[in-house]
Amino acid sequence: MRYGFIGLGNMATAILQGMYKSGLFSNDQLYGYDSIPEKTTAMQGAVGLLPVLSPEAVTRAADVILLAVKPQTLAAVLPLIKPHVSGNKLVITIAAGKTLDYYAGFLGNEVPIVRLMPNINAKVCAAASAICGNALATDAHRKIAADMFKTVGSVTAIDEKLFPAFSAIGGAAVAFAYVFIDALASAGVKAGMPKPMALSVATDTVLGSARLIKISGEHPRVLVDQVCSPGGTTIEGMHTLNRLGFESAVHQAIDAVIQKDNKIGES
Ligand SMILES: NC(=O)c1ccc[n+]([C@@H]2O[C@H](COP(=O)([O-])OP(=O)(O)OC[C@H]3O[C@@H](n4cnc5c(N)ncnc54)[C@H](OP(=O)(O)O)[C@@H]3O)[C@@H](O)[C@H]2O)c1
Repeated sequence: MRYGFIGLGNMATAILQGMYKSGLFSNDQLYGYDSIPEKTTAMQGAVGLLPVLSPEAVTRAADVILLAVKPQTLAAVLPLIKPHVSGNKLVITIAAGKTLDYYAGFLGNEVPIVRLMPNINAKVCAAASAICGNALATDAHRKIAADMFKTVGSVTAIDEKLFPAFSAIGGAAVAFAYVFIDALASAGVKAGMPKPMALSVATDTVLGSARLIKISGEHPRVLVDQVCSPGGTTIEGMHTLNRLGFESAVHQAIDAVIQKDNKIGES
């Protein structure tokens, strides 16, 4: 099986490195093109990617074509690849907001298309990805795509109508988590801690909390109760977060992401 990447930016680089490091894919299976030649050269050096000269050439060379350009670039790329795709090829897309119907508008209804939404934590093989496919995408097609993305984290099959919600809590929320960690660190600095120390403590705390939820299977609220001693310090902080609308702010931010995702899907 030959895998061709169109666009070799942040996400494609993370996925290619995950595939390469997994040992499950050999470099003579990996083809790629980016409009910036230096990015293609860099991936040639990093994972032994076989460079090709255009999106059309990627599509001709590969059995599985991964579209990893920005959503606004797709309208230029899809007409280029259309003459070279058929029922024998699998098209995978990771573009935010664009629905399977959008691709059918360019490629027709005879091409298997799988849609995935990974997140940037793929860089450390800790992404959460969602997957769905069009009517022509079989379980075998989904497995081909899932096997690629499992090299950089978990893959969850969902209905396409849940993609905007997934993009918010599984995609955009990575930035919310980063800013939460930085806010904790900044508060540590205000209380007298050096920034590198505060950042390290905050990062380990959030990482540990996520691991405890995942490994224990406990409901997060049960864990909150376990750490809020009567009359203690943590419950003071929890009440302050509630008074300042912490959860409401998170809910509104997620709603904003979903609305924007829907708008991109319509454009
Ligand atoms: N980054 C994330 O966290 C994330 C998460 C989930 C999904 N995604 C999706 O992943 C896709 C890629 O995102 P990204 O963050 O990796 O973007 P990126 O770093 O900008 O990578 C896209 C690459 O494609 C290149 N390109 C532009 N036009 C091209 C063309 N016609 N043919 C080949 N390459 C072309 C770009 O070059 P120029 O810079 O010259 O345009 C750039 O190097 C997007 O659709 C995004 O919605 C990203």
